[in-house]
Amino acid sequence: MAAPETVALLLALAREQLQHSSPTAALDARILLAHVLGKPESFLYTWPEHEPTEAQARQFHEWLERRCAGTPVAYLTGRQGFYGHEFLVSPDTLIPRPDTELLVEAALSLLPEQEPIRVADLGTGTGAVAISLALARPQWAVLALDFSMAALDVAERNVQRLGATNVQLRQSHWYRDLPGQYHALVSNPPYIEEGDVHLQQGDVRFEPRSALTAGPDGLDDIRALASGAPEHLLPQGWLLLEHGHDQGAAVRAILQQNGFHAVATRQDLGGRDRVTLGCWGGRQHAQ
Ligand SMILES: C[S@@+](CC[C@H](N)C(=O)[O-])C[C@H]1O[C@@H](n2cnc3c(N)ncnc32)[C@H](O)[C@@H]1O
Repeated sequence: MAAPETVALLLALAREQLQHSSPTAALDARILLAHVLGKPESFLYTWPEHEPTEAQARQFHEWLERRCAGTPVAYLTGRQGFYGHEFLVSPDTLIPRPDTELLVEAALSLLPEQEPIRVADLGTGTGAVAISLALARPQWAVLALDFSMAALDVAERNVQRLGATNVQLRQSHWYRDLPGQYHALVSNPPYIEEGDVHLQQGDVRFEPRSALTAGPDGLDDIRALASGAPEHLLPQGWLLLEHGHDQGAAVRAILQQNGFHAVATRQDLGGRDRVTLGCWGGRQHAQ
C-alpha cells in the first residue's frame, strides 16, 4: 500500500521534483502547498502528518509540473507580497519585486506626510506602488495609470481588496491622457534592453514583454518620462524613477538634461543604484 500523502511527504517530493528547475525549490514547495491548503506556512511545520484531500493533492501536483516548466510561483497562486500587503497578480501584470519597495520608501521619505498632495504612479501594473503609497499616506490623492487595460483590471481589484480609497485608476499611454499637475510622479517603468539575455531566463520569460523592455539601451521609457514630466509637475515637484543597477549615471544625466535639479540616486539593500530622483524648479521648459 502506498504511503499516505502527508504534508511532510508532499513537501519532500516537491523539493526533489523542483530541485533542478528552481533555485528556491523548498520555498516554492511551501508557498504552493500552503496556498493549496488555504493555510499559513506555519501550518506545514505544525501539522506535518496532515493528509490533504485528493483534490488538494492533485492541484499541488499540477502546480509542481507547471513550476517545473518555469511558470512563476506568483502566477500559480495569483498572489505576491509587496510592502507588507498581499497583491493579486496575473500574467498581464509584472510580479512586484522587493527592489521596488525602495521607490515607495524614497517617495515616503521625500514628500510631506501630512499634506493632501497629489501623486501619480506611471505604469502601475498590479497597483503595488500606488496602493502602498496611498495606504501609508491616507491624506494623499494617488492616481495610478497604465496603458494596459488588463493590468488596470487587476489594479482595480487590488484597490478594492486593500481598501485604498484614495487611489484612482486611469488608462493612459504615459502622459497622453494624464490630467493635471502633481507634487510627485513616480514610476517603475520598463528598463531592460531589448536584446538582454536575461529575458530568456527564469520568471521574466512569463511576464508581459511590454512591462519589461524599453528600446536598445533600455532607456526609451525613462527618456519619455523625464522629458514629459515638467508639464505635469507643480513647481518643486519630484520625479522618482526606478531603473537597472547599471543605469544610475545615465538616468541622472537624462534628468539633468531635462532641467531637473537636486538629482540623486538611491541604492537598494545590495548597495546597487536603483532609484534616481530629481526636483523640477518650475521653469516652463528645460534649456
Ligand atoms: C516594470 S512594470 C511596473 C509595474 C508596477 N509599477 C510594479 O512596480 O510592479 C511597467 C509597467 O508600465 C506599463 N507601461 C509600459 N509602457 C507604458 C506606456 N507607454 N504607458 C503606460 N504604461 C506603460 C506596463 O504595462 C507595466 O505595467
